[in-house]
Amino acid sequence: RKAVSLPHLLDMKKQGEKIAMLTCYDACFASVLDASGVDVLLIGDSLGMVLGGMPSTLPVTMEMMEYHTRCVAAGNKSAWVLADMPFGSYQESPEQAYRNAARLMAAGANMVKLEGTAWLADTVNYLTTRDIPVCAHLGLTPQSVSALGGYRVQGKDAKAAKLLKTNAKLMQDSGAQMVLFELIPGKLGADISKSLTVPTIGIGAGVDCDGQVLVLHDMLNVFPGKKPKFVRNFMDNQPSIQAAVQAYVSAVKGKTFPGPEHTF
Ligand code: KIV
Ligand code: NA
Repeated sequence: RKAVSLPHLLDMKKQGEKIAMLTCYDACFASVLDASGVDVLLIGDSLGMVLGGMPSTLPVTMEMMEYHTRCVAAGNKSAWVLADMPFGSYQESPEQAYRNAARLMAAGANMVKLEGTAWLADTVNYLTTRDIPVCAHLGLTPQSVSALGGYRVQGKDAKAAKLLKTNAKLMQDSGAQMVLFELIPGKLGADISKSLTVPTIGIGAGVDCDGQVLVLHDMLNVFPGKKPKFVRNFMDNQPSIQAAVQAYVSAVKGKTFPGPEHTF
């Protein structure tokens, strides 16, 4: 297939084709996911927990993100490569964010993802005016777990929902070319996705986002412990990892995942 580009992702939203995203941390999986039709490979800072066994994403460093971005870029041919900016690498200032985003772009990222609310707008503007594509991560932002008081659903009451919608629009107006929502009510995910021109990606945000993402090790059922409500085990009835990934892509494109049982 042709390499996935920013205009292509925008066009997918316009055409109503769902975007399939998965986390990916190494070259072998990058090759399998790319060949299975995954549109976007996310080097998530979830790698701290998934690969490193860390208790949260907070100990993840720029060096770790650079290394795994390089690994993924080496195994990938045509998927869009999105890399998380780790905790402490962008919150100080737009200049700090640019300096660190540039390292991830040099390592092979096509776009960087930052978690935040209204305070992040200046940084999104700073990066995008300097041609670093940005995905803004809203809703449950795991780097803020201590301030948020745990991993819980965000935007539940009318006031919080309105603020989330306002902030999503602010990110788009500041230049973000993609907005990702984690753990928000499905209705709110649908409403905000309709109101934005840039594609939205959901994780625990309902089927009406313009795309979906899951942590690879969650959907392959190799992450130990309790599975979150929004995860489906795609290894069920599948003979191989490649088949499971293809089943995920088909389910996202066919809007059969997430179902009501995965939605808040
Ligand atoms: O780090 C990650 O895996 C993520 C996804 C959960 C969206 O940010
Ligand atoms: Na992340």
